[in-house]
Amino acid sequence: MKIQELLQNQEYTQKRVLENLICYFLDISRENLRISLDQDIEESVINKITQAYDDFVVQKKPLEYILWYVAFMRNKFKIDHRALIPRPETEYMIQAVNEHVSTLTPWNNILFDIGTGCGVLWLSVLLHNPSFFTEAYLSEYVDYTLSLAQENFEIFKPRLSKTKVNLVQSNLLNFVKDISLSDSNLILVANLPYIPENTFDQNVWENVKNREPKPAFVWWEDWLDYYREMFQQIFDFWIKPTMFLEMMTRQVDVLRKEFWEKIKFQETKTFHFNIRIVKARIK
Ligand SMILES: C[S@@+](CC[C@H](N)C(=O)[O-])C[C@H]1O[C@@H](n2cnc3c(N)ncnc32)[C@H](O)[C@@H]1O
Repeated sequence: MKIQELLQNQEYTQKRVLENLICYFLDISRENLRISLDQDIEESVINKITQAYDDFVVQKKPLEYILWYVAFMRNKFKIDHRALIPRPETEYMIQAVNEHVSTLTPWNNILFDIGTGCGVLWLSVLLHNPSFFTEAYLSEYVDYTLSLAQENFEIFKPRLSKTKVNLVQSNLLNFVKDISLSDSNLILVANLPYIPENTFDQNVWENVKNREPKPAFVWWEDWLDYYREMFQQIFDFWIKPTMFLEMMTRQVDVLRKEFWEKIKFQETKTFHFNIRIVKARIK
């Protein structure tokens, strides 16, 4: 069967999805699709396209889980049910870190990524600043999620040879008690679960609720407790990282009121009216 015939098949009502799947499975760009309409597609590839189309349109699986990758800051990262799918708004955090890094000297800088998920944050920061960090520590509480971050690390390792990377299974910053950080400049990125449970239950799309890991979004006892606990660890360990955090707009004010004596919060990026990227520094 030719691409043209598949595209004209009436059974596929969502043509945009079908086009994306054809491009993906035949490894052609969208620009080249129009000039490849006469290309033959093998039976085995048609079966893959049909299966993926059904998973997406009928089973309502997120496309990223079907294709096993997510595009983030122009890189492709492996993704599956073990981790939350990184969201476009989080790309603004990488931009904020890049702007901060451009003002510093590349000496003894250490990167922390807390709640690393599939690993997009620290990997993106290191890929954009390849010679800047001597070490990076990535902390994740859930072992199967950490295994996915490890797999992404293996993919990008050849491009990250300047940085010693440590993936640790840890409750937030608890791993700091076991390491030495003398004289280091610390940069911390964290996109911790911050969605109130009732928001998750009432306002989130069904395919997100049914397919992605709820603990990656929600902290159900108190929706800011992860950030509070992490700040307490920072005080206990006497470290002074410059932090880049993602949260909802109203949460910034809650934290500002609670921690005004010890932490300065600055909203650096806005996505939609509801999400903020916050730069936070210990006073
Ligand atoms: C919202 S996801 C963010 C994932 C990724 N950093 C991103 O921005 O796409 C939060 C991550 O924090 C992890 N997490 C939850 N509790 C944690 C804890 N106490 N310590 C470390 N990681 C935790 C979750 O398993 C999840 O992978």
